[in-house]
Amino acid sequence: MPPALQTLFEVYAPARFMLACRRRYGPVFTIQGLGTPPLVVLAAPEPVRRLFSLPSRSLSVGRGNAALAPLFGPRSLVLADGAEHQRIRRALMPGLVGAGLDGKADVVRSATLAAASALRPGDRFSALALADRATLCTILEALFGTWRAPADEALRLRLTSMFGDLGSPLKTFGVLIPGLYDRLDRIPAVRRIRSDLAAVDAMLHDRIRTARARGAPAGSLLSRLLAAREADGQPLGAATIRDQLMTVLLAGHETTSAAIAWALHHIQRRPGLRDRLVAGLARGSEDDLVAICHETLRLHPPLTGGLVRELHEPLDLGPWRLPAGTRVLAHGWLVHLDPATHEAPAEFRPERFLDRGPDRAGYLPFGGGHRQCPGQAQALLAMRTVLATLLTSLHLAPLPDRPVRAMRRGGVMVPRGGVMLRVESVLAGPGSGSPAEREACHAVGT
Ligand code: HEM
Repeated sequence: MPPALQTLFEVYAPARFMLACRRRYGPVFTIQGLGTPPLVVLAAPEPVRRLFSLPSRSLSVGRGNAALAPLFGPRSLVLADGAEHQRIRRALMPGLVGAGLDGKADVVRSATLAAASALRPGDRFSALALADRATLCTILEALFGTWRAPADEALRLRLTSMFGDLGSPLKTFGVLIPGLYDRLDRIPAVRRIRSDLAAVDAMLHDRIRTARARGAPAGSLLSRLLAAREADGQPLGAATIRDQLMTVLLAGHETTSAAIAWALHHIQRRPGLRDRLVAGLARGSEDDLVAICHETLRLHPPLTGGLVRELHEPLDLGPWRLPAGTRVLAHGWLVHLDPATHEAPAEFRPERFLDRGPDRAGYLPFGGGHRQCPGQAQALLAMRTVLATLLTSLHLAPLPDRPVRAMRRGGVMVPRGGVMLRVESVLAGPGSGSPAEREACHAVGT
């Protein structure tokens, strides 16, 4: 199939395209998009396990993901390799795990209640738009230690506008086809993305300057980046810090909100499940909630695959031998949908994770190996807390609609239409917001 057609399918019908390839060619196959080299896709646990167990010196990601550079920045963690990758990851990691997450559930709860504060009985709203708002506030707090100050609000609004501009499948072409944005500067949407990006950059640089002069709140990711050092012992430059701030914003925000919206979609369509979940929470048990989060990430991994890896040495996959220089993608979503890996894989069955957690080989929403998502503990905490807060403070009902399909928003798979819900009654918390906040909750935001 010509590369242009493959890119078209990748953007508009990624699920059908990839499943068809898997059915036709088996668990290891090659695709090629417009303007990019061939990409070998791994769609079964064993080949993925072999890829993820390669030592870091045997592969790199910088060139394979270069299309992300205009947004993430050239020194972003997601594009760094070798010692630089380890240095930046070591600087950020303590803020994203263990004690670094102390107190974060309270932040997520407050951000969720603020996002839902305008909702009243009878209101209809987009679960995705609400989750977007709550998770963006949460990520801003993780980065800067605050999320309610006027400067945070200004940054949130600019970022929301930028994410909105990047959101349609059409604009995803710009991300998937290297250099396309550079050639399409006359298109208003492309110019808007650039101007949003420039405004966000200016705000981030302003934050960095202020934090250098007055210090950043202890424990914030910005304070950790300010304390980090280059190989020669010098502090990280402002451009390098900006790239990491943008990386966490881009990697952590829409992924988490997509997962929350998908979970709400399934919970609201199964009243028995919702009631069991809420009863469990009332008893202090999160078992159902945790199982729902795992099952949501299995059936709807927001990133269908991990970063593209480029091999520095041959990789032996039994019948296949990939030579050095091959670009490889571990496709978690195809692994999750393999009946050999999960029984009835197309069905939403959180029960499968009630007695035992996910088996690592067949469960890859956060990728794996030395590039595995460093934000997974924070993401799961945010998912659990947003869902528990919403479901215990609002009684919600789904709006009758067509089966919800997945669509691309940038690189993230979101439910088309945003999962529209209606507020039946307000149990606690929300219901006090301003008309402007009501407007914000109603915007579908996909
Ligand atoms: C449900 C939410 C999330 C999902 C599904 C997700 C998924 C992923 C995946 C698949 C990767 C690529 C891993 C690989 O190639 O092996 C990744 C990388 C990454 N994620 Fe997440 N992520 C989520 C939330 C977050 C959050 C909340 C943060 C930060 C606070 C974050 C920060 C990152 C970073 C910085 C990387 C690059 C890591 C590296 O290159 O070393 N993610 N994520």
